[in-house]
Amino acid sequence: MLIKFRKASDAHESEVTPKELFLNRRSFMAAAAAAGGTALLPAFPNDARAVFTNLKKDPKFQTLEKPTTLDGITSHNNFYEFGTGKTDPKKNAHTLKPRPWSVEISGHAAKTGVFDLDDILKPHQLEERIYRLRCVEAWSMVIPWVGFPLGDLIKRFEPTSKAKYVAFETLVDTEQMPKQKLPILDWPYVEGLRMDEAMHPLAILAVGIYGDDMPNQNGAPIRLVVPWKYGYKSIKSVVRINFVEKQPPTTWNIQAPGEYGFYSNVNPNRDHPRWSQARERRITGEGGFKALIAPKIETKMFNGYDDVASLYTGMDLIRNH
Ligand code: MTE
Repeated sequence: MLIKFRKASDAHESEVTPKELFLNRRSFMAAAAAAGGTALLPAFPNDARAVFTNLKKDPKFQTLEKPTTLDGITSHNNFYEFGTGKTDPKKNAHTLKPRPWSVEISGHAAKTGVFDLDDILKPHQLEERIYRLRCVEAWSMVIPWVGFPLGDLIKRFEPTSKAKYVAFETLVDTEQMPKQKLPILDWPYVEGLRMDEAMHPLAILAVGIYGDDMPNQNGAPIRLVVPWKYGYKSIKSVVRINFVEKQPPTTWNIQAPGEYGFYSNVNPNRDHPRWSQARERRITGEGGFKALIAPKIETKMFNGYDDVASLYTGMDLIRNH
């Protein structure tokens, strides 16, 4: 993974847009679209937007930690289909069109096919889950996702006993994702989970942040969120979910097998070959330049999500990194 040093400008106070203003801007733009005006955001079908009205908020998945501001979440991240810089996704992801969107479900399952995303979403009750995200470059955020358990979707498509892993793929479309014209990665971005990991109740498919649609730069319209693993496992803009028998290839393992394994569990005891993973710097989205010199905090095993430990009983998590 390319290492970029954070510039002071990445977190300047003047860039911080309060959530309310951002949401008002989105409503304004949706209204502009409805009125036939120019809008940067897609006009969503009414039923797709309605799903955000009744979000379940299970206290189990809330947190006392202060979430990163919406501006922090949307202006500093990785989405190489739009460039390798941390501010590139925000600058460039306006070319992504999150609707209409199809997802193919394939492989070892009773039900397979290509489905419109809104049909896939209909049976699921969306909920808010505030999860910590720990990136391999040692920064972290706290993000209020809107989504639903990946396991609920998996059950609907009835995988067979041959389905030992779930493989995911991002869209390939050089019009919508212009940096795919460059050989930065082996496109499409691909990821995978073992079936029991995918079925764990903490793993979700997310369609929004802060109670609204997923911003393009965070992986619209649907992405994976696996909070106990490093951020790169959480693949964005998913177009295919494939039930497979063998451990599937994963993008960062293909790029640098010595540095990135299949499991990629957050593990402060296993250094990355080029740096320690013992600590992290929390991006709050507030504090401007001060955020750059904020003290680092200890990284917890499984990013603090100890519930998943039993998935790995008996495994050497240094070797199986
Ligand atoms: N998914 C795709 N398709 N392309 C990417 O470049 N980057 C990954 C992951 N998912 C990436 C991706 C990495 S390295 C991280 S840290 C997270 O997305 C960061 O994005 P987020 O802050 O929006 O979760």
